[in-house]
Amino acid sequence: MQSLPLLPYFAQQAQTKLPANIWHYLQSDAGHGAQLQTNEAGWQAKKLLPRPLQVLHHPSTQCELFGEQWAHPIMLAPVAYQKLFHADGEIGTAVACNAQQGQMMVSSLASQPVEEIINQAQQPLWFQLYWQGSREATAVLLNKVLAAGASAIVFTVDAPVKQALIDLPAGIVAVNLARPLSMQPISAGQSPVFDGWMTQAPTWDDVAWLRQQLKVPLLIKGLMHVDDAKRTLAIGCEGVVVSNHGGRVLDSTPSVAAVLPGIVAAVGGQCKILVDSGIRSGQDVFKALAMGADAVCIGRPYVWGLAAEGAMGVAKVIRTLRDELEMTMALTGVSNLAEIRKVELYA
Ligand code: FNR
Repeated sequence: MQSLPLLPYFAQQAQTKLPANIWHYLQSDAGHGAQLQTNEAGWQAKKLLPRPLQVLHHPSTQCELFGEQWAHPIMLAPVAYQKLFHADGEIGTAVACNAQQGQMMVSSLASQPVEEIINQAQQPLWFQLYWQGSREATAVLLNKVLAAGASAIVFTVDAPVKQALIDLPAGIVAVNLARPLSMQPISAGQSPVFDGWMTQAPTWDDVAWLRQQLKVPLLIKGLMHVDDAKRTLAIGCEGVVVSNHGGRVLDSTPSVAAVLPGIVAAVGGQCKILVDSGIRSGQDVFKALAMGADAVCIGRPYVWGLAAEGAMGVAKVIRTLRDELEMTMALTGVSNLAEIRKVELYA
């Protein structure tokens, strides 16, 4: 019997159903919980003022990016190895996303074939790219996912050194990669970070190379600094995903809510701005849009749904956040996403 609101209930269910090491992999952050708390508190610190008695004209949460239309601006962030959480895996997530008329980013570390995920979704999906150590190996992966029907590439750049690692159970692998990403072998006396991970990390030159290669929109995920957002724009990328990877990589970063206004001031209107990390409610979605984001992504919350009830759980999470967004719009007197952007948050 469910007595909690849906998201905490699904989180509780996920914790109960998942083996302890998988729950830890899902929830962990680089700050032993502190970074997650910072992320969530960043959105919670922004406040809303009620605006009753407004007439809503054709109210809608419809969102358009790069010519794609969705019923709402709540995208599913790339999350690796989803068969860890439920047998439905990425295919279940994709089907739920389509049923809720939204968009998802399929991880480079997906545990099911990207062709099958897109096929079952019955819509083009976005693909999240991890650098494959060289331009040649990266091009092989890109050609595969573009042939499968990926309609945008989201290049994640904030995790060249992996912290959130898990010993994968038998049968769960990154099936879309020719060679699983791992640390370069090092010899005695060498640094795992400098000689292991960083020798295969991408650079800004690779971003420019990627932009030249691709005919679909390219977004760079994992930026927090204004100068990096400006550089992304100067290279000609179509968007940035302001994110600290859900707090899983660099410890002690500010919340995304804290850095978003600076990035909006620098590149807003010139490229699309998406945000994630710590978004837990439709109110948080509303606040991110009011601060200038074009859309948001959620990570852990939909995985709680996946772990609790498979594809149906993912669909319920998306619908719940959308319901909360609609309620927030009604209570603040705004009819659409453009009007949300004009709302001033209460400091
Ligand atoms: C992630 N994230 C992630 N990001 C990415 O670009 N590629 C990936 O494969 C993964 N894998 C992954 C696994 C797990 C278990 C988690 C929780 C997260 C980061 C993800 O896309 C997103 O940035 C965060 O999850 C957003 O923060 P919240 O919503 O989880 O707080």
